[in-house]
Amino acid sequence: MTELLNLKDVKKYFGLRGVPWQKAQAVRAVDGVNLVVRKGETVGLVGESGSGKSTLARVATRLLDPTAGRVEIGGKDVTRIKGRRLRPIRRQIQMVFQDPQASLNPRQSVGAILSTPFRAQGIRPTRGQLVELLEQVGLSEQHLERYPHEFSGGQRQRIGIARALSVKPDLLVCDEPVSALDVSVQAQVLNLLADLRDELGLSYVLVAHDLAVVRQVADRIAVMYLGTIVEEGPAAQVYQSPAHPYTKALLSAVPVPEPGVVRDRIVLTGDVPTPIDPPSGCPFRTRCYKAEDVCATKRPVLEPVEGSTEHRAACYFPEPPSLERTQ
Ligand SMILES: Nc1ncnc2c1ncn2[C@@H]1O[C@H](COP(=O)(O)OP(=O)(O)OP(=O)(O)O)[C@@H](O)[C@H]1O
Ligand code: SF4
Ligand SMILES: [Mg+2]
Repeated sequence: MTELLNLKDVKKYFGLRGVPWQKAQAVRAVDGVNLVVRKGETVGLVGESGSGKSTLARVATRLLDPTAGRVEIGGKDVTRIKGRRLRPIRRQIQMVFQDPQASLNPRQSVGAILSTPFRAQGIRPTRGQLVELLEQVGLSEQHLERYPHEFSGGQRQRIGIARALSVKPDLLVCDEPVSALDVSVQAQVLNLLADLRDELGLSYVLVAHDLAVVRQVADRIAVMYLGTIVEEGPAAQVYQSPAHPYTKALLSAVPVPEPGVVRDRIVLTGDVPTPIDPPSGCPFRTRCYKAEDVCATKRPVLEPVEGSTEHRAACYFPEPPSLERTQ
Protein backbone atom coordinates (compact mmCIF):
# COMPACT_ATOMS: atom_id res chain seq x y z
CA MET A 1 0.00 0.00 0.00
CA THR A 2 1.23 3.50 -0.82
CA GLU A 3 2.93 5.24 2.07
CA LEU A 4 1.56 8.76 2.50
CA LEU A 5 3.58 9.65 5.57
CA ASN A 6 6.68 8.08 7.03
CA LEU A 7 8.29 9.53 10.15
CA LYS A 8 11.70 8.14 10.96
CA ASP A 9 13.15 8.70 14.42
CA VAL A 10 11.63 12.19 14.48
CA LYS A 11 12.59 14.49 17.35
CA LYS A 12 11.38 17.96 18.21
CA TYR A 13 13.06 19.76 21.07
CA PHE A 14 12.04 23.27 22.06
CA GLY A 15 14.31 25.84 23.65
CA LEU A 16 17.54 24.70 22.01
CA ARG A 17 19.67 27.64 21.01
CA GLY A 18 22.95 25.83 20.54
CA VAL A 19 24.16 27.14 23.90
CA PRO A 20 25.42 24.30 26.12
CA TRP A 21 23.68 25.37 29.36
CA GLN A 22 20.40 25.82 27.54
CA LYS A 23 20.69 22.39 26.02
CA ALA A 24 19.91 20.89 29.39
CA GLN A 25 16.68 22.91 29.44
CA ALA A 26 15.35 21.61 26.12
CA VAL A 27 11.75 20.42 26.16
CA ARG A 28 11.82 17.04 24.47
CA ALA A 29 8.30 17.30 23.09
CA VAL A 30 8.85 14.54 20.52
CA ASP A 31 11.72 12.21 21.26
CA GLY A 32 12.27 9.60 18.56
CA VAL A 33 9.00 8.71 16.82
CA ASN A 34 8.60 6.25 13.95
CA LEU A 35 5.19 6.20 12.30
CA VAL A 36 3.89 5.17 8.90
CA VAL A 37 0.48 6.13 7.47
CA ARG A 38 -0.65 4.30 4.33
CA LYS A 39 -3.31 5.24 1.80
CA GLY A 40 -6.82 4.62 3.05
CA GLU A 41 -5.83 4.32 6.71
CA THR A 42 -7.05 6.23 9.72
CA VAL A 43 -4.42 6.25 12.44
CA GLY A 44 -5.53 7.35 15.89
CA LEU A 45 -2.80 9.08 17.92
CA VAL A 46 -3.66 9.06 21.61
CA GLY A 47 -1.98 10.12 24.81
CA GLU A 48 -2.35 12.38 27.83
CA SER A 49 -1.97 16.13 27.69
CA GLY A 50 1.63 17.12 27.04
CA SER A 51 2.65 13.79 25.48
CA GLY A 52 3.66 15.56 22.25
CA LYS A 53 0.71 14.78 19.97
CA SER A 54 0.22 18.30 18.61
CA THR A 55 3.94 18.83 18.18
CA LEU A 56 4.21 15.59 16.23
CA ALA A 57 1.20 16.60 14.10
CA ARG A 58 2.85 19.93 13.30
CA VAL A 59 6.17 18.34 12.43
CA ALA A 60 4.42 15.73 10.24
CA THR A 61 2.63 18.48 8.29
CA ARG A 62 5.86 20.49 8.15
CA LEU A 63 4.39 23.42 10.03
CA LEU A 64 7.34 22.88 12.38
CA ASP A 65 10.88 21.83 11.51
CA PRO A 66 12.04 18.64 13.23
CA THR A 67 15.15 18.84 15.42
CA ALA A 68 16.28 15.44 14.12
CA GLY A 69 15.00 12.52 12.09
CA ARG A 70 13.36 12.32 8.71
CA VAL A 71 9.90 13.23 7.40
CA GLU A 72 8.77 11.57 4.17
CA ILE A 73 5.54 12.63 2.50
CA GLY A 74 4.33 10.68 -0.52
CA GLY A 75 7.63 8.81 -0.59
CA LYS A 76 9.79 11.98 -0.74
CA ASP A 77 12.17 13.22 1.90
CA VAL A 78 10.77 16.63 2.86
CA THR A 79 12.59 17.05 6.17
CA ARG A 80 14.48 20.21 5.25
CA ILE A 81 12.25 21.67 2.53
CA LYS A 82 11.30 25.31 3.06
CA GLY A 83 9.36 28.22 1.54
CA ARG A 84 7.88 27.77 -1.92
CA ARG A 85 9.19 24.23 -2.14
CA LEU A 86 6.65 23.32 0.55
CA ARG A 87 3.76 24.06 -1.84
CA PRO A 88 3.48 20.56 -3.32
CA ILE A 89 3.66 19.13 0.21
CA ARG A 90 0.68 21.24 1.28
CA ARG A 91 -1.33 19.73 -1.58
CA GLN A 92 -0.69 16.26 -0.15
CA ILE A 93 -1.09 16.83 3.57
CA GLN A 94 -3.24 19.35 5.44
CA MET A 95 -4.09 19.97 9.06
CA VAL A 96 -7.38 20.48 10.89
CA PHE A 97 -6.90 22.27 14.20
CA GLN A 98 -8.41 21.66 17.61
CA ASP A 99 -10.03 25.01 18.19
CA PRO A 100 -11.95 26.21 15.13
CA GLN A 101 -12.57 29.54 16.85
CA ALA A 102 -8.86 30.26 17.15
CA SER A 103 -7.81 28.78 13.82
CA LEU A 104 -10.24 30.82 11.67
CA ASN A 105 -9.46 34.49 11.11
CA PRO A 106 -12.47 36.38 12.59
CA ARG A 107 -12.04 39.25 10.12
CA GLN A 108 -12.24 37.05 7.04
CA SER A 109 -15.44 35.84 5.42
CA VAL A 110 -15.83 32.12 4.90
CA GLY A 111 -15.13 32.65 1.21
CA ALA A 112 -11.82 34.37 2.00
CA ILE A 113 -10.88 31.67 4.53
CA LEU A 114 -11.52 28.90 2.02
CA SER A 115 -9.56 30.78 -0.67
CA THR A 116 -6.37 30.99 1.42
CA PRO A 117 -4.95 27.52 0.64
CA PHE A 118 -5.69 28.02 -3.06
CA ARG A 119 -3.86 31.34 -3.04
CA ALA A 120 -0.92 29.76 -1.25
CA GLN A 121 -0.69 27.52 -4.30
CA GLY A 122 -0.92 30.53 -6.63
CA ILE A 123 -4.49 29.64 -7.71
CA ARG A 124 -7.60 31.89 -7.78
CA PRO A 125 -10.54 29.69 -6.86
CA THR A 126 -13.90 30.07 -8.63
CA ARG A 127 -17.08 30.65 -6.63
CA GLY A 128 -18.23 27.23 -7.82
CA GLN A 129 -15.15 25.59 -6.24
CA LEU A 130 -15.81 27.32 -2.92
CA VAL A 131 -19.49 26.34 -2.93
CA GLU A 132 -18.54 22.74 -3.70
CA LEU A 133 -16.24 22.73 -0.67
CA LEU A 134 -19.00 24.05 1.58
CA GLU A 135 -21.42 21.44 0.29
CA GLN A 136 -18.88 18.70 0.93
CA VAL A 137 -18.96 19.55 4.63
CA GLY A 138 -22.74 19.99 4.89
CA LEU A 139 -22.87 23.80 4.50
CA SER A 140 -24.11 25.78 1.50
CA GLU A 141 -23.59 28.79 -0.77
CA GLN A 142 -25.46 31.12 1.58
CA HIS A 143 -22.63 30.69 4.12
CA LEU A 144 -19.93 32.00 1.81
CA GLU A 145 -20.25 35.69 2.75
CA ARG A 146 -20.69 35.10 6.48
CA TYR A 147 -18.03 35.47 9.20
CA PRO A 148 -16.83 32.82 11.70
CA HIS A 149 -18.68 34.37 14.69
CA GLU A 150 -22.00 33.78 12.92
CA PHE A 151 -21.54 30.00 13.16
CA SER A 152 -21.84 27.39 15.90
CA GLY A 153 -18.73 25.48 17.08
CA GLY A 154 -19.62 22.45 14.98
CA GLN A 155 -20.17 24.57 11.87
CA ARG A 156 -16.88 26.37 12.44
CA GLN A 157 -15.08 23.04 12.56
CA ARG A 158 -16.81 22.13 9.28
CA ILE A 159 -15.32 25.30 7.79
CA GLY A 160 -11.90 24.27 9.14
CA ILE A 161 -12.31 20.89 7.46
CA ALA A 162 -13.46 22.50 4.19
CA ARG A 163 -10.38 24.74 4.25
CA ALA A 164 -8.14 21.70 4.70
CA LEU A 165 -9.91 19.90 1.84
CA SER A 166 -9.60 22.81 -0.60
CA VAL A 167 -6.38 21.65 -2.24
CA LYS A 168 -7.58 18.02 -2.38
CA PRO A 169 -5.01 16.50 -0.03
CA ASP A 170 -4.51 12.74 0.36
CA LEU A 171 -3.94 12.95 4.10
CA LEU A 172 -5.57 15.09 6.78
CA VAL A 173 -3.91 15.42 10.15
CA CYS A 174 -6.72 16.32 12.54
CA ASP A 175 -5.52 17.58 15.93
CA GLU A 176 -8.31 16.91 18.43
CA PRO A 177 -10.92 17.93 15.85
CA VAL A 178 -13.89 17.46 18.16
CA SER A 179 -12.57 18.04 21.66
CA ALA A 180 -13.62 21.72 21.71
CA LEU A 181 -17.18 20.79 20.69
CA ASP A 182 -20.29 19.84 22.64
CA VAL A 183 -20.67 16.10 23.02
CA SER A 184 -23.87 16.18 20.94
CA VAL A 185 -21.99 17.72 18.01
CA GLN A 186 -18.87 15.57 18.28
CA ALA A 187 -20.50 12.52 16.67
CA GLN A 188 -21.76 14.60 13.73
CA VAL A 189 -18.29 15.91 12.95
CA LEU A 190 -16.75 12.44 13.32
CA ASN A 191 -19.41 11.06 10.97
CA LEU A 192 -18.56 13.80 8.49
CA LEU A 193 -14.88 12.79 8.62
CA ALA A 194 -15.85 9.15 8.05
CA ASP A 195 -18.12 10.07 5.10
CA LEU A 196 -15.38 12.20 3.54
CA ARG A 197 -12.96 9.32 3.89
CA ASP A 198 -15.33 7.06 1.96
CA GLU A 199 -16.22 9.65 -0.69
CA LEU A 200 -12.78 11.12 -1.31
CA GLY A 201 -10.53 8.20 -0.38
CA LEU A 202 -8.88 10.32 2.32
CA SER A 203 -6.52 9.07 4.98
CA TYR A 204 -6.30 10.54 8.46
CA VAL A 205 -4.10 10.94 11.44
CA LEU A 206 -6.62 11.60 14.16
CA VAL A 207 -5.16 13.05 17.34
CA ALA A 208 -7.26 12.62 20.48
CA HIS A 209 -6.85 12.16 24.18
CA ASP A 210 -10.24 10.46 24.30
CA LEU A 211 -9.87 6.78 23.41
CA ALA A 212 -13.61 6.43 22.87
CA VAL A 213 -13.44 9.01 20.05
CA VAL A 214 -10.56 7.22 18.34
CA ARG A 215 -12.25 3.87 18.71
CA GLN A 216 -15.13 5.00 16.50
CA VAL A 217 -12.98 5.74 13.48
CA ALA A 218 -9.39 4.47 13.67
CA ASP A 219 -8.02 1.42 11.85
CA ARG A 220 -4.75 1.69 13.69
CA ILE A 221 -3.81 3.21 17.04
CA ALA A 222 -0.54 4.74 18.20
CA VAL A 223 -0.22 5.54 21.90
CA MET A 224 2.13 8.37 22.91
CA TYR A 225 3.78 8.92 26.25
CA LEU A 226 6.37 11.64 26.95
CA GLY A 227 7.25 12.18 23.31
CA THR A 228 7.51 8.54 22.26
CA ILE A 229 5.14 5.95 20.83
CA VAL A 230 4.86 3.17 23.38
CA GLU A 231 2.36 0.94 21.56
CA GLU A 232 1.05 0.73 18.05
CA GLY A 233 -1.15 -1.68 16.15
CA PRO A 234 -4.49 -2.53 14.55
CA ALA A 235 -7.23 -0.82 16.58
CA ALA A 236 -9.10 -4.03 17.41
CA GLN A 237 -5.95 -5.67 18.77
CA VAL A 238 -4.86 -2.69 20.84
CA TYR A 239 -8.33 -2.30 22.35
CA GLN A 240 -8.91 -5.97 23.07
CA SER A 241 -5.44 -6.81 24.20
CA PRO A 242 -3.30 -3.83 25.14
CA ALA A 243 0.32 -4.93 25.59
CA HIS A 244 1.87 -1.82 27.17
CA PRO A 245 1.02 -1.12 30.81
CA TYR A 246 0.29 2.53 29.95
CA THR A 247 -2.24 1.58 27.26
CA LYS A 248 -3.79 -0.93 29.62
CA ALA A 249 -4.18 1.76 32.25
CA LEU A 250 -5.65 4.25 29.76
CA LEU A 251 -8.13 1.69 28.47
CA SER A 252 -9.13 0.56 31.92
CA ALA A 253 -10.80 3.96 32.34
CA VAL A 254 -12.85 3.59 29.11
CA PRO A 255 -16.23 1.87 29.43
CA VAL A 256 -16.44 -1.40 27.47
CA PRO A 257 -19.28 -1.29 24.91
CA GLU A 258 -20.36 -4.92 25.52
CA PRO A 259 -22.96 -5.09 28.30
CA GLY A 260 -21.85 -6.93 31.40
CA VAL A 261 -18.12 -6.73 30.57
CA VAL A 262 -16.12 -4.73 33.09
CA ARG A 263 -12.39 -4.05 33.00
CA ASP A 264 -10.35 -3.82 36.17
CA ARG A 265 -9.58 -0.16 36.67
CA ILE A 266 -5.87 0.66 36.87
CA VAL A 267 -5.39 4.01 38.51
CA LEU A 268 -2.20 5.75 37.42
CA THR A 269 -0.42 7.36 40.32
CA GLY A 270 1.98 10.30 40.15
CA ASP A 271 2.23 13.01 37.53
CA VAL A 272 3.57 12.76 34.00
CA PRO A 273 7.29 13.60 34.37
CA THR A 274 8.55 16.78 32.74
CA PRO A 275 9.79 16.38 29.17
CA ILE A 276 12.75 18.59 30.15
CA ASP A 277 14.18 15.80 32.26
CA PRO A 278 12.47 12.52 31.29
CA PRO A 279 13.24 9.36 33.31
CA SER A 280 16.17 7.19 32.22
CA GLY A 281 15.27 3.98 30.44
CA CYS A 282 11.54 3.51 29.98
CA PRO A 283 9.76 6.89 30.09
CA PHE A 284 6.76 5.30 31.83
CA ARG A 285 8.72 3.60 34.61
CA THR A 286 7.95 6.20 37.29
CA ARG A 287 4.23 5.36 37.06
CA CYS A 288 4.32 1.75 35.94
CA TYR A 289 2.80 -1.00 38.08
CA LYS A 290 5.21 -3.54 36.54
CA ALA A 291 8.49 -1.61 36.65
CA GLU A 292 11.68 -3.48 37.58
CA ASP A 293 15.33 -2.41 37.78
CA VAL A 294 16.01 -3.17 34.13
CA CYS A 295 13.38 -0.59 33.13
CA ALA A 296 15.66 2.22 34.34
CA THR A 297 18.65 1.13 32.25
CA LYS A 298 17.77 1.47 28.57
CA ARG A 299 14.74 2.74 26.71
CA PRO A 300 12.72 -0.22 25.38
CA VAL A 301 12.05 -0.14 21.63
CA LEU A 302 8.84 -1.07 19.82
CA GLU A 303 8.83 -4.81 19.25
CA PRO A 304 6.15 -7.16 17.89
CA VAL A 305 3.76 -8.47 20.49
CA GLU A 306 3.54 -12.24 20.80
CA GLY A 307 1.27 -13.72 18.15
CA SER A 308 1.06 -10.60 15.98
CA THR A 309 3.22 -9.03 13.32
CA GLU A 310 1.58 -5.61 13.23
CA HIS A 311 0.97 -4.98 16.92
CA ARG A 312 4.06 -3.61 18.67
CA ALA A 313 4.87 -2.37 22.15
CA ALA A 314 7.91 -0.77 23.77
CA CYS A 315 8.07 -2.64 27.08
CA TYR A 316 10.32 -5.23 28.72
CA PHE A 317 7.34 -6.94 30.34
CA PRO A 318 4.37 -6.58 27.97
CA GLU A 319 0.98 -7.88 28.96
CA PRO A 320 0.25 -11.32 27.48
CA PRO A 321 -2.22 -11.42 24.55
CA SER A 322 -5.79 -11.78 25.72
CA LEU A 323 -7.48 -15.08 24.83
CA GLU A 324 -10.27 -13.55 22.79
CA ARG A 325 -7.85 -11.74 20.45
CA THR A 326 -9.09 -11.57 16.88
CA GLN A 327 -6.41 -11.55 14.18
N1 LIG B 1 6.51 26.14 21.29
C1 LIG B 1 6.83 25.46 22.38
N2 LIG B 1 7.84 25.84 23.16
C2 LIG B 1 8.21 25.14 24.26
N3 LIG B 1 7.57 24.00 24.67
C3 LIG B 1 6.55 23.57 23.93
C4 LIG B 1 6.10 24.26 22.74
N4 LIG B 1 5.06 23.58 22.22
C5 LIG B 1 4.84 22.52 23.03
N5 LIG B 1 5.73 22.52 24.05
C6 LIG B 1 5.83 21.51 25.12
O1 LIG B 1 5.99 20.26 24.49
C7 LIG B 1 5.28 19.25 25.20
C8 LIG B 1 4.31 18.57 24.26
O2 LIG B 1 3.28 19.50 23.93
P1 LIG B 1 2.12 19.17 22.91
O3 LIG B 1 1.29 20.37 22.78
O4 LIG B 1 2.71 18.59 21.67
O5 LIG B 1 1.34 18.00 23.68
P2 LIG B 1 -0.11 17.40 23.39
O6 LIG B 1 0.05 15.91 23.52
O7 LIG B 1 -0.65 17.92 22.12
O8 LIG B 1 -0.97 17.91 24.62
P3 LIG B 1 -2.53 18.33 24.70
O9 LIG B 1 -3.29 17.05 24.82
O10 LIG B 1 -2.60 19.16 25.93
O11 LIG B 1 -2.87 19.09 23.45
C9 LIG B 1 4.63 19.94 26.39
O12 LIG B 1 5.45 19.77 27.50
C10 LIG B 1 4.58 21.38 25.95
O13 LIG B 1 4.60 22.24 27.06
S1 SF4 C 1 9.47 -1.27 30.30
FE1 SF4 C 1 9.16 -1.56 32.48
S2 SF4 C 1 8.52 0.44 33.27
FE2 SF4 C 1 8.30 0.47 31.04
S3 SF4 C 1 6.20 -0.07 30.71
FE3 SF4 C 1 7.36 -1.95 30.56
S4 SF4 C 1 7.33 -2.81 32.63
FE4 SF4 C 1 6.67 -0.68 32.78
MG1 LIG D 1 -2.36 19.02 21.64
